[in-house]
This record gives sequence, structure tokens and C-alpha cells, in this order.
Amino acid sequence: VFRNLFENSLAAAAGAVRIDVRCAEATLHGQPALRVAVRDDGPGLTPEQRRRAFEPFYTTKAKGTGLGLAIVRRLVEAHGGRIDLGDAEGPGAELVLVLPRGQA
Ligand SMILES: Nc1ncnc2c1ncn2[C@@H]1O[C@H](COP(=O)(O)OP(=O)(O)OP(=O)(O)O)[C@@H](O)[C@H]1O
Ligand SMILES: [Mg+2]
Repeated sequence: VFRNLFENSLAAAAGAVRIDVRCAEATLHGQPALRVAVRDDGPGLTPEQRRRAFEPFYTTKAKGTGLGLAIVRRLVEAHGGRIDLGDAEGPGAELVLVLPRGQA
């Protein structure tokens, strides 16, 4: 999951990129959860990219498969969590994961 997110951040920026990872306590379906926000300072997503980022085979890259985020979402959901784009203001992309904690 994280490798896919970091590779997307690296690919989006022409030069060096800063990736900020923040964790906070949260709740998911009324249960304790961990919120992990992965944010970069690249160009961010256009409205079309925002709409389609998790769609299988959607890619804006010459050699992309467009499967990265679709697989990421499947993996996170297999762990009982969810992942979406953040709605933070400003440039850059933010992906927000919420993972349940506690009893396995
Ligand atoms: N951090 C990001 N910044 C800007 N655009 C992004 C970012 N992450 C994803 N995207 C957009 O979402 C699209 C889909 O991402 P996804 O990871 O599913 O596929 P991909 O990266 O294009 O292909 P692959 O994962 O096989 O390399 C990307 O092509 C890009 O347009
Ligand atoms: Mg990718």
C-alpha cells in the first residue's frame, strides 16, 4: 500500500518531492481506528484524476497500468479499512487511510 502511494508521489513531481505522513486516532464504524494521511507537495490531481484515480486501468502515465490505487483500495478494504483522497486545500495530493485497530 505505502509503496504504491510513495511511488505515485515520486512520479507526479518533476524534481524532489516531500512526502508527509501523519497518523492520528480515529473511529471507523464506531470502532477505534488509525487515520494515516499521506500527503505530497507535487502538482496534485485534476478534477478528472480525482474522479477516476481508483478506477482500474485509469492512468495518465505512458507506462502506467492504472492498477496501483485500485489494488491499494482492495488491500485496505481487505483489512477492514478504507482509503480516499483527502480534501485538504492547496497543491499536492493527499491520500487518507483509515484502518481499524484492536481485535484481529
Ligand atoms: N500523488 C499523486 N499525485 C498526482 N496524481 C496522482 C497521484 N497518485 C495518483 N495520481 C493519479 O492517479 C492515476 C492512477 O494512479 P494509479 O496508482 O492507480 O496508477 P498509475 O500510477 O498511473 O499506474 P501504476 O500504479 O501501475 O504505476 C495516476 O496515473 C495519476 O494520474
Ligand atoms: Mg501508481
